[in-house]
Amino acid sequence: MVNAFSDQVLQAAQALVRGELIGLPTETVYGLAADALNPSAVNAIFETKGRPPNHPLIVHLADAAMVPVFASEVPAFAQGLMAACWPGPLTLIVKRNAGVADAAAGGHATIALRCPSHPMAQAVLRAALSQGVQGVAAPSANVFGSVSPTTAAHVRESFPKLLVLDGGACDVGIESTIVDCSRDVPVLLRPGMLSVSQLSAASGESVLSAFETSSIQTTAAPGTLASHYAPRARVRLMTIEQMRAHLRDAKLPLATWTRTSLLSVEQAALPEDVKHFTMPSDAAQCAHDLFAQLRSMDALGVHEIWIETPPDGEAWAGVRDRLQRAAA
Ligand code: TXA
Ligand code: MG
Repeated sequence: MVNAFSDQVLQAAQALVRGELIGLPTETVYGLAADALNPSAVNAIFETKGRPPNHPLIVHLADAAMVPVFASEVPAFAQGLMAACWPGPLTLIVKRNAGVADAAAGGHATIALRCPSHPMAQAVLRAALSQGVQGVAAPSANVFGSVSPTTAAHVRESFPKLLVLDGGACDVGIESTIVDCSRDVPVLLRPGMLSVSQLSAASGESVLSAFETSSIQTTAAPGTLASHYAPRARVRLMTIEQMRAHLRDAKLPLATWTRTSLLSVEQAALPEDVKHFTMPSDAAQCAHDLFAQLRSMDALGVHEIWIETPPDGEAWAGVRDRLQRAAA
């Protein structure tokens, strides 16, 4: 087993060294990975994914010691975030060294850096580093605008010819939390499973949210487009009461995903072409299941997917964000 693991890791690292793309498991979602300092390899990511080249990529590092290769400035609050949350599901935006990783940064003056904790990602990053690959650019391994992959099978569905490492189902299940550390204060750009309280404690500053602070102008980038992470079927978010009320006039078939048992209690009364699934009541479990669930509901070929609005509270911020985008 250990040998099979290391053979695969070595093969993947060598592909990166040759400037090829691989499907890389991380604890958040699978990435479509290439050498961040090889412009033609990075261009192949944009082409394969169908992503506009000015939408910057995240560069994955074996550890924080690699940060100075890419970053020109790392404020104390960013160092606090790295010390507390790396390796893990946190991406930091920092000022970029001039001329380094231009293609991966999409021409922006800043760069997104992350050190993933998934053991296979760690092993690949270290093996590639030992052969001169200092950072690995990787967007989520899905076609631009669709749902991110959380299993190797999801990646193969989108990119059948790609070399994909199978690291199992991703623990976290939604993309990393992104904090902009290129300003005077840390600003949350994309919520994930790390809460604002955790981030504020780790950084020693109160982390602002780009969602709640209208005075902050953020870079228009893919994860911040209103409509993103969307399945083919139309996604509608509603309360359980709204769902019950709308069900009478619904255009079937549709799939529903709710936390409470309200709908399932009535399941016997549901029309046959309404498929119901139960949403985990725990935020972390819900995030873990979210994208696979959206994919499997989509695979039913339904017209619409109705989802119960997740609860308020910071534990659910990442899930709320992805569902709002899927429904936009
Ligand atoms: O969990 C994750 O972050 C996954 C895994 C593979 O690491 N990656 C991922 O990458 O979600 P992607 O490309 O799907 O999303 C990267 C996000 C973009 O939405 C973009 O907004 C932001 O990172 N980003 C990257 N560079 C940036 C920059 N210089 N300034 C602002 N935002 C940036
Ligand atoms: Mg993505």
